[in-house]
Amino acid sequence: MNAPHPATAADRIQHDGLRAKLMSAEQAAALIQPGWNVGMSGFTGAGYPKAVPLALAQHIEAAHARGEQFRIGLWTGASTAPQLDGALAKVDGIDMRLPYQSDPTVRAQINSGHMQYVDIHLSHVAQFVWFGFLGHLNVAVIEVAGILPDGRLVPSTSVGNNKTWIDQADHVILEVNHWQNAALEGMHDIYYGTALPPHRQPIMMTEPGQHIGEPYLRCDPAKVIAVVETNAPDRNSKFAQPDANSQAIATHIIDFLQHEVKKGRLPKELLPLQSGVGNIANAVLAGLNTGPFDHLTAYTEVLQDGMLDMLKSGKLATASCTALSLSPDAAAYFNEHIDEFKGRIVIRPQEISNHPELIRRMGLIAMNAMIEADIYGNVNSTHLMGSAIMNGIGGSGDFARNAYLSIFMSPSTAKDGKISCIVPMASHTDHTEHDVQVIVTEQGLADLRGLAPQQRARKVIDTCAHPDFREALHDYVERARATANGQHTPHLLTEALGWHERYLRTGSMKG
Ligand code: COA
Repeated sequence: MNAPHPATAADRIQHDGLRAKLMSAEQAAALIQPGWNVGMSGFTGAGYPKAVPLALAQHIEAAHARGEQFRIGLWTGASTAPQLDGALAKVDGIDMRLPYQSDPTVRAQINSGHMQYVDIHLSHVAQFVWFGFLGHLNVAVIEVAGILPDGRLVPSTSVGNNKTWIDQADHVILEVNHWQNAALEGMHDIYYGTALPPHRQPIMMTEPGQHIGEPYLRCDPAKVIAVVETNAPDRNSKFAQPDANSQAIATHIIDFLQHEVKKGRLPKELLPLQSGVGNIANAVLAGLNTGPFDHLTAYTEVLQDGMLDMLKSGKLATASCTALSLSPDAAAYFNEHIDEFKGRIVIRPQEISNHPELIRRMGLIAMNAMIEADIYGNVNSTHLMGSAIMNGIGGSGDFARNAYLSIFMSPSTAKDGKISCIVPMASHTDHTEHDVQVIVTEQGLADLRGLAPQQRARKVIDTCAHPDFREALHDYVERARATANGQHTPHLLTEALGWHERYLRTGSMKG
């Protein structure tokens, strides 16, 4: 089980001036004003503030009970936890949310039209704030593992956008979480070399394990308006055991990578791996952990259990990420054996973990889950039936667009076989056919490189679609070819989204 890592306030907060700003979460939350934009730490359930958001939610609820308006703009690294997104949404405290989220209450409010949601590529968020595209940031609420005597901050289990929030916000509230392992110190690499165009310089990184910055976040103590102590674990959600579908997807991907090595298109230790969020991505990593490749590296956004297992087994030499998103068991192992991972895990700002320049230079193998793909290879990662947001694009676009190999994966069907995840036309497109090289389902893997649209359609249908839907998909293409105004990417415009419409009307895509 998760064990706390006790330390006294003096151990964790070594700056006298900042220790003098210690207060309760309630007092700190009361400093946040209605209408403010609040930049909070947190990335896929790691390193989010544990106490101030809950106190803020109570504060907002009380204000609403008095008939006062109180909502905030909530900016984070990515998804957080029920104690942050969930708590604030339940009291109707969020007016505008960005970027990636995965909270059920937030999702429901976005889909009802009550909450505004701006879904941005994760590498873009920090620079958009620096450019002034997103408005003014009033306060940053940041979890840290400790404060040094000179006021620099030891980051916790995620870095996300913290550097930018601290730099750009008028005020900073720090949560010092005693539960977080003090030995995280030294695992981070905060790069301060980003500048605004036209003054940008190349980012001098060529390998995933390289440190190019500093281990600490800089923070002007004068901006800090409150310091709060906490002692609570991260969200630490469990992963599902890999099921037959994800195991089949993993097998197809490993076979494909072996084929690429044989063809001389990949070195035998592959290229740095990027692995997306969720159970399928985690299952693929489990497959790679028992697979034929050794001395692997990873340059990824989120380090999940599967990658920790690969680091443990030695299959993975080094991994770069912006967050550790671990199950309770994996988090306990990590904390007990943290020295085993020192020098092998680097935790960076998300603008660097997802940076297009670095992804392109290092030549990543990007593997991300999707909701659906169409026969021509356009991929939908974010929307259910065209209109309803699921989570958000996250870093999938950063990686897909710039990777050496861009792989998207999903079971071939959803909802007990009533939905085909291979459709005539994607009901929303996050990754266009130009950015998608490989599609894989449990049925098989379609290598789309160098194929024209009609060839791609045949390949995707025959290889990836579930047999229950193959005939209907071929029939669609044949009829489209007979009548479309062009033969490059033939569609039946009145029918292209008919499968989705049928599902919404009848509960099944089957005709
Ligand atoms: N149409 C409608 N619903 C579908 C569907 C489809 N084609 N495919 C899946 N679903 C439903 C599932 O039934 C499930 O519904 P439920 O929650 O009611 O059970 C839900 O969508 C999620 O599906 P699941 O298979 O559990 O997804 P997942 O956990 O593997 O996540 C994504 C898949 C695409 C939602 C997730 O990976 C994501 O948000 N990706 C975008 C961001 C990203 O790629 N980040 C990583 C980059 S670093």
